[in-house]
Amino acid sequence: MSANSGAIGLAKHELETPALCLDLDAYRRNVDRMATVLRAARVAWRPHMKGQKAPQLATLALEAGAIGVTCATLYEAEAMADAGVESILLAHETVGARKQRRLARLAGRCGLISATDSHAHLAQLGEAARAEGVTIPVLIELNVGMNRCGIEPGESAIDLVSAAVVTPGIRLAGLMGWEGHAVKEPGEDKSAKIAAAMSALVETAERCRAEGFEIAIVSAAGSGTFLDATRTAGITEVQAGGGVFSDLNYRKWGLTDHEFALTVVTRVASRPTPTRIIVDAGFKTMSVQHGLPQPLIGAPVRSVVLSAEHGTIELESPDDSLRVGDVVEFVPGYTDSTVCLHDEMCALRGGLLEAVWRIPGRTGR
Ligand SMILES: Cc1ncc(COP(=O)(O)O)c(C=O)c1O
Repeated sequence: MSANSGAIGLAKHELETPALCLDLDAYRRNVDRMATVLRAARVAWRPHMKGQKAPQLATLALEAGAIGVTCATLYEAEAMADAGVESILLAHETVGARKQRRLARLAGRCGLISATDSHAHLAQLGEAARAEGVTIPVLIELNVGMNRCGIEPGESAIDLVSAAVVTPGIRLAGLMGWEGHAVKEPGEDKSAKIAAAMSALVETAERCRAEGFEIAIVSAAGSGTFLDATRTAGITEVQAGGGVFSDLNYRKWGLTDHEFALTVVTRVASRPTPTRIIVDAGFKTMSVQHGLPQPLIGAPVRSVVLSAEHGTIELESPDDSLRVGDVVEFVPGYTDSTVCLHDEMCALRGGLLEAVWRIPGRTGR
């Protein structure tokens, strides 16, 4: 059941709460900020949708010049394809025979590219592709320092590249890396780590080319790193996505000029004391992963504590301006882990509800 689909045309403060709200104008300005930087750097943009989820947002990014999208799960990728997105990078090693067959079927109906980082996984993808009678383009994922997925750059990666070109059902599309380990580093350390990661990626791409392999795509970088990552020549496309929402983390991670486009709108449920405000939303509505949300209220806040369905704001000093039923808007600490808590996103323009979008692929399917 949708809480706000009957509220089209109403103002934000009239919505049923808690409500995940997107300011489409601010969103679009953030999209343009990222698109402008990447255009100037002559690097293509394939925004990650793992945090954005709603396929309608992919359409807006494509209109602004994105060449396709990046997804973290097969289900997300299917939702994007259903919405008509033609070029999708699945930056994740999809496993399990049934799921790999699903991936192959998806590759048969859109321009899907899958990450892979091992001989075993590559062979499985090849098998699924042959079973479905399709070809699956792959990016070989390198470990550029994050120590998550990824084969080591250099010789091991080249060995996997050579396996990809001879695996029936597979087409080598290029390389990818994700320098997530650098995101939270301070100042110069961050730039140095990103530069080292990008060099490892680009050098391996060049070695592959020297051995005669065609590396069309060299993909990397997120919202917290792309400003640095695009300084390295040889990166052909960037996966940065979540920065289009902006949140407390993306601000901290370098996107200081982005506007907070995504907020959670709540209401005051109780005022037990002059310094305490209880809102109708807790950690099932606002993520605590990577930091607490921040209430956008005038009075100085001493603390925010989230229980399941209650948020407790403790003020520095007594203030009775917020009354029971009043709206309190929060900026998420991390939008990625907040969006997936919601079934729907309220898209507003000029402060009025324009559309309510279902959020597909909320779980890690
Ligand atoms: C593979 C990959 N690329 C890029 C990113 C960056 O995404 P965003 O720009 O949404 O922070 C992530 C984030 O976790 C990721 O896992």
